[in-house]
Amino acid sequence: DLPARVRIHEVGARDGLQNEKRAVPTEVKAEFIHRLARSGLTTIEATSFVHPKWVPQLADAEDLFPLVQDIEGVHLPVLVPNARGLDRALALGAHRVAVFASATESFAKANLNRTVAESLAVFEPVVARAKEHRAHVRGYLSMCFGDPWEGPVPVHQVVSVAKALLDMGCDELSLGDTIGVATPGHVQTLLSELNEEGVPTNVIGVHFHDTYGQALANTLAALQHGVTTVDASAGGLGGCPYAKSATGNLATEDLVWMLRGLGIETGVDLGRLTDTSRWMAGHLGRPSPSRTVSALAQP
Ligand code: HMG
Ligand code: MG
Repeated sequence: DLPARVRIHEVGARDGLQNEKRAVPTEVKAEFIHRLARSGLTTIEATSFVHPKWVPQLADAEDLFPLVQDIEGVHLPVLVPNARGLDRALALGAHRVAVFASATESFAKANLNRTVAESLAVFEPVVARAKEHRAHVRGYLSMCFGDPWEGPVPVHQVVSVAKALLDMGCDELSLGDTIGVATPGHVQTLLSELNEEGVPTNVIGVHFHDTYGQALANTLAALQHGVTTVDASAGGLGGCPYAKSATGNLATEDLVWMLRGLGIETGVDLGRLTDTSRWMAGHLGRPSPSRTVSALAQP
């Protein structure tokens, strides 16, 4: 059975823009987020409070967040890698934060300069303090399927980090296929294994990158399993600067097109969203990779 409604967790302004070679002006990012909100998206990841040298594209987080934080009816989660990041987010009044862990040692080192265990030890007090501030906490889990250095990732590694994130108090998980190598059977296997190990489907979101064109098929497999939170990025922007070969996320338009066809509610106005992605593509100087965005642009 498919769900009646899916909550889209829009990551274009964060996962999308963190990988752009040219810096996008803060005002353009703010307008992007406002336009995404006007398209009907209600969870819009705004930026990251990470080290500005690690992700220079998001170094303007302090300037950007105040320009968007009051949008009515919209949640604006931000990424925080450690206590310093949480301080910065809380100082601006953020209500939703996300820590980001890895199922593999190679990516934990590349992305966080820590081992998996060290990074979990960093997150534990961060999550506890976020909860004291009544913030909603998402726990990202990267490299759930394959890793560019380690190859296929054993399911038990994913299960163990997923449980650790929930045990420390994360309200939800987002299972990342950071380099886009997952296929639908693998998705079903991982979700079943998580359930068997006591991780319920209702705390699981999925985060597919579209490197091999499988993101939509993987999403359908997750929906069939009962998942109702799906990450996507407007126009298919994105990639991770610390994971080679990661391309953009599942495009939000491609997702909405499929869900609309299945009669699944999202609250998104596809016309407004494609207009937004075309407007953003103009700023970035190249067309959106989303098939739906280009198809709907035909006269
Ligand atoms: P580090 O170099 O080990 O940092 O980096 P440190 O803890 O040793 O601190 C060194 C200095 O950095 C200190 O300053 C800190 O204050 C400062 P000093 O005392 O030397 O003057 N510092 C900070 N400054 C500002 N904000 C901060 C911060 N933290 C420390 N938050 C660190 C460790 C985690 C900071 C670094 O590795 C980092 O920022 N990594 C972020 C990488 C990132 O953002 N990657 C992309 C997001 S993840 C992703 O895209 C995957 C996802 O989409 C899911 C999927 O697809 O799988 C989520
Ligand atoms: Mg990602």
